[in-house]
Amino acid sequence: MRHVIEPTDLSINELDELIALAEDIRLNPVKYADCCKGKILAALFYEASTRTRLSFESAMLSLGGSVIGFASADASSAVKGESVADTVRTVSNYADICAIRHPKEGSALVASQYSGIPVINAGDGGHEHPTQTLTDLLTIHTIKRTLSGLTIGFCGDLKFGRTVHSLVKALSLYPNNRFLLVSPNELRAPDYIRATLANRGCEYQEGELLDTHIRHMDVLYMTRVQRERFFNEEDYLRLKDSYILNMAKLVNAKSDLSILHPLPRVNEISMEVDGDPRAQYFNQVRFGKLIRMALILKLLEIVEWRGGRC
Ligand code: NCD
Repeated sequence: MRHVIEPTDLSINELDELIALAEDIRLNPVKYADCCKGKILAALFYEASTRTRLSFESAMLSLGGSVIGFASADASSAVKGESVADTVRTVSNYADICAIRHPKEGSALVASQYSGIPVINAGDGGHEHPTQTLTDLLTIHTIKRTLSGLTIGFCGDLKFGRTVHSLVKALSLYPNNRFLLVSPNELRAPDYIRATLANRGCEYQEGELLDTHIRHMDVLYMTRVQRERFFNEEDYLRLKDSYILNMAKLVNAKSDLSILHPLPRVNEISMEVDGDPRAQYFNQVRFGKLIRMALILKLLEIVEWRGGRC
């Protein structure tokens, strides 16, 4: 049984297989419409979500399966003090696969240790978010036709932004990518992320000024400042508007730049950018459902990992 707790639980070949499967699902949705008939996905969301939960649910429904779950900790026995371990043991009797989001780092890993069904980490605190990474990889691959040799800028809250941590890790597996990490000093990427880049011999630079770096980027990954992970509101208020991407800031950017954002956006991309052909963040949402369909099919072994067919 396979779990996906961080993106590196998947090999580069498996990432490529998922991308290829998602592309096939996009082109031939009817072929996959009944693949998960009789299967149940449990969506265990202890923390707020719009896209991740709904795209998991929509993915399973479009594969002919069904969905159970809860959308907040308040609606589960967590309010009575039940542990994640006990909840996931219970849910293993009701479902075939589960996606879990929890505010505590490491909770998805704990869930996987007690689960009788595949566990997918749908975000654990400020740590990792592997299915957003799959979404981001599919988006970049569809636009650029490659995941190698790119200069990728990450801008915003690189400390608490779990989507950043997971995407940096995944893109560092591919050759010749260059990373530009733009954040306020207090919101720099954690040591373990910089260590990953250093250990894999990836070229990277850190800085505080988006203007200095934007001209070099093939992809710009904007993120919001993660209010819910701050220890005090004053720090959040001071840092929340550190970067606001607007048309003036894009003047020096490449004409084929792709602007991504995992969403939700708060203030960090001005709405005037939405109409620019470089803005890809709403297209990105569409890819999130397709890649989750692919992941469900693989983890349920309905599509085999090597060349198998539905
Ligand atoms: C992200 C998350 O939850 O980490 N959202 C998402 O899943 N698309 C990003 C964020 O909340 O800022």
